[in-house]
Formats: sequence, structure tokens, C-alpha cells
Amino acid sequence: MKFFIDTADLDEIREANDLGILDGVTTNPSLMAKVGIKGENAILEHYKAICDIVDGDVSAEVIATDYEGILKEGRELAALNENIVVKVPMIADGVKAIKTFSMEGIKTNCTLIFNAGQAIMAAKAGATYVSPFIGRIDDSSWDGIDLIDQLVTIFENYGYDTQILAASIRHTMHLVQCAEIGADVATCPLSVIKGLLKHPLTDIGLAKFLEDAKKTR
Ligand code: G3P
Repeated sequence: MKFFIDTADLDEIREANDLGILDGVTTNPSLMAKVGIKGENAILEHYKAICDIVDGDVSAEVIATDYEGILKEGRELAALNENIVVKVPMIADGVKAIKTFSMEGIKTNCTLIFNAGQAIMAAKAGATYVSPFIGRIDDSSWDGIDLIDQLVTIFENYGYDTQILAASIRHTMHLVQCAEIGADVATCPLSVIKGLLKHPLTDIGLAKFLEDAKKTR
């Protein structure tokens, strides 16, 4: 399973990348606002800076919600770097735009997926990735992991090339369950990636080894 980091914070991206396990980055307008990016030029420059750090796909989201607007914005984003993936919302004009982008060879990530029907539509349009928001599904008293399971079955049934990019991951168990089920990618905050390293018995065991090592020096 590929690991993407879900942030626009350059320091966090560098930290995850330095671990040597990072395969890509996802952003969204909320994450860009969180790090204080403002203005069209600043946004484009920020995406370029992310692409300079990570050797992997970087999702950059369009703001337009009409077909022509999505195409214009998406083409501009895609021209920034070959690793840019144009992130498009799950709406009718978004699906039409994904189809056009796919015919133009522009990679896409269909975002705000909350059920299997939406994911099928995006896959049929030729999306490179679909992003089911599992944490937000959990927030609404459904099971986000169940959706990942359903999508793995459906995509296998029909041999869709679209990759399942589990998003809105809130904790390490989400990530482990995604891996167990067979999601292609998990995008998560740095805290979740670093959380995978932790176990109290590792800390206790290491302290003991280091203490005993003193006897051998
Ligand atoms: O990738 C989507 C993600 O940023 C949403 O996460 O925690 O706001 O639901 P969250």
C-alpha cells in the first residue's frame, strides 16, 4: 500500500519524506488555508514547492465547479509538474471533466467520495484515484472501512484501473485496516504515519538493551 501524506505543510512533508516511506501528497483547500497560502500565484508556487520535495503524485484540488472552469484550472495545475494529480469533486461536471482529463492523459483524483455508486461513476470516467473519506463516514455513524472493502470487491470484479485512495484517515487502525483490505493508497496526517512507529514494549525493550549494552562496553 502506498503512503501519501495529507497536508500542505512543507515541514511535515519533508519530515515524512525523510523517513523514506513517502509515496505522494494530497492537499485540499482547507489544508492550503491552514498553512496560510493565499492568492492564485502563491497556490501554484506552493504546489511546485511540494513537488520539489516529494518524488510521487501530488494532488492539487480545483476550486471551479463547472465543466469548463474545472478543465481550465486542472490543465493549469497539471502543467506545473508531471507529478500533479488534478483533484476534482464528485459532482456531475466533475465526472465529465475527469473523462476529458483521462482522454488528455491528465491524472485525476475524484474527491469527496462517500458511497460505492459515486466511486463507480468516477472509475468509469477514468479517474486515476478515488478518495473515499473514511473518517467522515465514521463521523456520520456509518463504517468507512466497510466502504473500502466494498470498493476493493467492485473494482476487482470489473478490473478498473482506478486506485482506491483511502482519505480522511484519523488513526493508525484505519491505516492498518486499509492495508488488510487492500486499499491501493492511504493518505493521512503526519501524526498517523509517526503513530505507526510506536509501541511501549519497543521503548521498554530498547531501554533494557541499551542498559545491558553498557555491560559489554
Ligand atoms: O483527504 C481528506 C482529508 O483531508 C479530510 O480529512 O479529517 O478533515 O475528514 P478530515
